[in-house]
Amino acid sequence: TVIRREDYTPPAYWVDTVELIFDLDPAKTRVLNRMRLRRNPDVPAQALRLDGDDLNLARVLVNGQGCSFKMDGSTLVLESLPEGHEPFELEIFTTCAPEKNTQLMGLYVSQGTFFTQCEAEGFRRITYFLDRPDVMASYTVTLRADKARYPVLLSNGNLVESGDLPGPGNEGRHFAKWVDPHKKPCYLFALVAGNLVAREQRVRARSGQEHLLQVYVRQGDMDKTEHAMNSLIHSVIWDEARFGLPLDLERFMIVATSDFNMGAMENKGLNIFNTKYVLANSATATDTDFANIESVVGHEYFHNWTGNRVTCRDWFQLSLKEGLTVFRDQEFSMDLCATPSARAVKRIEDVRVLRTAQFPEDAGPMAHPVRPDSYVEINNFYTVTVYEKGAEVVRMQQTLVGREGFRRGMDLYFQRHDGQAVTCDDFAQAIADANPDSDLARLLPQFKRWYSQAGTPRVHASGHYDAATQRYTLTLSQSCEATPGQAEKQPFVIPVAVGLLDAQGQDLALQLVGETVPAGTTRLLVLTEPQHSYTFEGVATEPVPSVLRGFSAPVLLDMAQSDAHLLHLLAHDSDPFNRWEAGQRLALRRALAAIRAEGPAPTAPLDNAFLDAMRSVLRHPALDAAFKELVLTLPAESYIAEQLDVVDPQRIHAVRETMRQQLANALFDDWVWAWEQHKDNGAYRPEPVSTGRRALAGLALGMLCLAARDSGDTVWPGKTYQRVKDADNMTDRFNALSALVVSGHALARDALARFHTLFKNEALVLDKWFALQAGAPDRGGNVLPAVRQLLAHPDFHLKNPNRARSVIFSYCNANPAAFHREDAAGYVFWSDRVLEIDTFNPQVASRLARALDRWKKLAEPYRSAAREAIARVAAKPDLSNDVREVVTRSLAD
Ligand code: ARG
Ligand code: ZN
Repeated sequence: TVIRREDYTPPAYWVDTVELIFDLDPAKTRVLNRMRLRRNPDVPAQALRLDGDDLNLARVLVNGQGCSFKMDGSTLVLESLPEGHEPFELEIFTTCAPEKNTQLMGLYVSQGTFFTQCEAEGFRRITYFLDRPDVMASYTVTLRADKARYPVLLSNGNLVESGDLPGPGNEGRHFAKWVDPHKKPCYLFALVAGNLVAREQRVRARSGQEHLLQVYVRQGDMDKTEHAMNSLIHSVIWDEARFGLPLDLERFMIVATSDFNMGAMENKGLNIFNTKYVLANSATATDTDFANIESVVGHEYFHNWTGNRVTCRDWFQLSLKEGLTVFRDQEFSMDLCATPSARAVKRIEDVRVLRTAQFPEDAGPMAHPVRPDSYVEINNFYTVTVYEKGAEVVRMQQTLVGREGFRRGMDLYFQRHDGQAVTCDDFAQAIADANPDSDLARLLPQFKRWYSQAGTPRVHASGHYDAATQRYTLTLSQSCEATPGQAEKQPFVIPVAVGLLDAQGQDLALQLVGETVPAGTTRLLVLTEPQHSYTFEGVATEPVPSVLRGFSAPVLLDMAQSDAHLLHLLAHDSDPFNRWEAGQRLALRRALAAIRAEGPAPTAPLDNAFLDAMRSVLRHPALDAAFKELVLTLPAESYIAEQLDVVDPQRIHAVRETMRQQLANALFDDWVWAWEQHKDNGAYRPEPVSTGRRALAGLALGMLCLAARDSGDTVWPGKTYQRVKDADNMTDRFNALSALVVSGHALARDALARFHTLFKNEALVLDKWFALQAGAPDRGGNVLPAVRQLLAHPDFHLKNPNRARSVIFSYCNANPAAFHREDAAGYVFWSDRVLEIDTFNPQVASRLARALDRWKKLAEPYRSAAREAIARVAAKPDLSNDVREVVTRSLAD
C-alpha cells in the first residue's frame, strides 16, 4: 500500500506517558507497556488503532480492567474505550524473540548483547503503540535481566534506581530504572543490555552544568574509543558555540554494535552506533575512518536538537532533520579544520558524494523530491537525496541569508518549535522570517520547489565579452528533466556564485551594471527565471569566468569552456572548489572523447598539455597535499557514466584505466618525488595536514606500482610490500596493500595473506580486506569467481551487514567493470543475493536491490540482461515491501 503525504491527519489519541518494563531474555522477552492516553479533541471520536509487528499479545487492560479488542492484520484495534477527553490507562503485555530478529529492527541480540533500532517503524516490533513521530510521550523504562550476562542496563535519560531483584525466581537478576526527562517520539526509544565497558569523560558546559559522556564498547575495544570520545567532546562544544545549543541531559551515551543496518542512530541520550563509526586507533583505522567517525558522532549528537527537540510531523518530513543535520555535521567538520584549504577539501569530498551518488539517484527510477510525496516502505527513503541533497538545500538557505542570518533563523526555529513535531515548510519559514529583507524571504514559495521537485537542475552558462564597452555578459539559463511522476518542472531559485579572472589569474573586482555597490570578487547571482543575463562593467580585457564557485547550488553546470580557460582556472582560481573542478573537467572531456571514439579505445587519451598541468599541480610549492591528491584523482567511473546517454561499463573502465596508466608513466619521476616528500609523517595523528600527506603518498605509491607493471620494474612493488609489512598505521599499510592489489602485482597474494594473518581478530579490518578484493579491477572476469570464494571464506558472515556489504556491495555497487559482464553472471549473482538476503534482512536487501537502478542507460547486451535479472527478483511472490518497491519502480514504464 502506498502512503501519501497529502493524506496526513493528526493522531486520534495522544500518549502522555509510557512506562515500560522489560524482562530481557534472548528467546522470549516480556514487555509490559503501561500508557496514559487521551483522545485528541481536534479529531472525530474513533477507535484506537495501535501498530504492531511480530509480537505475541498476552493481555490488554484498560484502567485495570480486561477489555475487548480485535486485530486488523497486525494492528491492534480497541473500539470500546472510555468516552470523553479524560486520560485513561492502557496496559499491554506482549512477548517477542530478540534472538530471532535478523532484520535488526526493534529489539535484537548482537554477540550476546541486546540492542534496539526503532527508526523509522521499529518500536512496533517491541510493543503495540502509535508508531508515528508526532506522538510524543514521557518514558520511564525498567530493565530486568540476568546480572552476570547483562551487567550493563541502559535506556534513555537518567538512571534513577538500580539494584538486585528481590524474591524467589529472581536469583542472579538485577534491574535498572531510567527516566527520560524529555518527551519524545517512540522512534527515539532505545535500550542496551549486555557486558560492556565504558570510556567516561565529564565536561562542563558554558552554563556551568556538568555532563557525563560515555562511550560503551565490548571488553577489548577500549583502546579504540579515544577518537570517538574526542569527537563527542568537540561536538558538544561546537553546537554550543556555533548555534547556542547546549546538551540538555545529565548524561550522554554512545554504544557500539557490530550488527547494525545503517551508520548510527540518535536515540535520545543513548546513541547506538555501528562499530565502524566508533572504533578507531592508528593500527586498525584509516584516516577516512577517523574522519567518518568525527562526522557521524557529530551528526548523531547534533540530532539532539535537530531531530529530537524538534522532530518530524510525519516521515515525509525526514529531510527536516536529516538534511539539516547533515548540513550541521558538514559545517562541524569544516569548522574543525585549521586552514581554508582543509575546509575546501572537505567541501570537495562532500560534493563528490553528491555527484556520484545523489545525481544518479535523482536521474533514475527511485528519483524523489527532498520531501517525498509518497512511499511504500519508508526505510527506502533514507536516501542520498533526503540526506545529501537535503543538506545542500539547507546550505543554499544559509547562502541566501548569510551565516549570521542563518543563525538568527535557527534561533527562531527553536523559539517557535521546541518540543514540536513539524514540517520542512516550518523550517524554511523560520529561516526566511528571521531575515525579512533577504532573497530567501522574497522568493520563499519558489525556493521551496527544492523540496517538492525531484531531479537535478541543469544550468547553462555562456559568456560574452565586448571589448568596445569593456563589458562582460554572463547568461544563465536553467532546465530540469522529467522524473517519475513529475513531467513538468517549474524554475528553481539557484544561487550561482561567480568570479572573473584576468589574464594573470587575478580575481577582478566585480561591478554589475546598474548597481552602485561594488560586488567584491565573488558575486552571488540568484537565478529565478528560465534565463537571465548579468552584465559586469569595467572589464578591461576578456576575463575567464569561474562559475558556481564553492558549488553554490546542487546543479549540473553546462558551459562551453575552452581547454585554455580550464587550464587557466586550474592554475589560478582563488576558489579551490572551481580550481579542482577545472582539472576534473579537463579529465572528463578527455575520457568522454576516448569513450565515444570509433573503434578500439585510444591508447593515449591524455595529451601533454593535460599531463603538464597535472605535473604542475603535483609539484606546486604552495598547494596542500590533500588538495593535490583530489586534483590528481580522475573522475570516478560512475561519474563518467552519468555524462553518457548509453553506458558501456567495460569501455569506461578501459579508458579510465588507460588514463591512469598514462598518468602513472608520464609523471613517473614526479610520483617518485611525491612519495619521497610525503611518505614520512612522524607519530600518527588524524588531522588534515598529515592526512593529506598520507593520501598523496598513497596515490603516488599506487601510481608507481602501476608504472612498474608496464615497465616490469620490481623495485617499487618490493618497496610497497615492505610498506605493507612495516607501516606503523593502517592508512599507510592499507594504501600499500591496495596499490599491490589494484596494480595486480604478483606480490598482492602474499601481501593479502599476511594482512589477513595480522588482523584476523579485527572485524572492521577484515571488512576492508574483503572489500578490497571484491572491488579490485577486473582482469578477464577474475573478480566474480574471487567474490564467490570470499563468500565461502570462514570469516564471511552474510547476516552481519558490514561483512555482507564489504563483499557483495563492493562488488555489485562499487565495481562496475567486474559486475557488468557480457555473460550476465554478475547480474545472476546479484539477483541470487538480493533474494537470499531479503528472507532475513529486507533493509539490507533493498539497498542491494538498487545496484541496477540505472539499467536503462546500459548498452546491450547489459541492458536486456539487467532487466531480466530485475524481473527475476520481481517474480518472487513473497518479497518484502522494501525490495518490492525498489524493483517495481525500477521496471516501471
Ligand atoms: N536517523 C539515523 C541517522 O541518520 C538513521 C537511521 C535510519 N535507520 C533506518 N532503519 N532507516 O543518523
Ligand atoms: Zn541523521
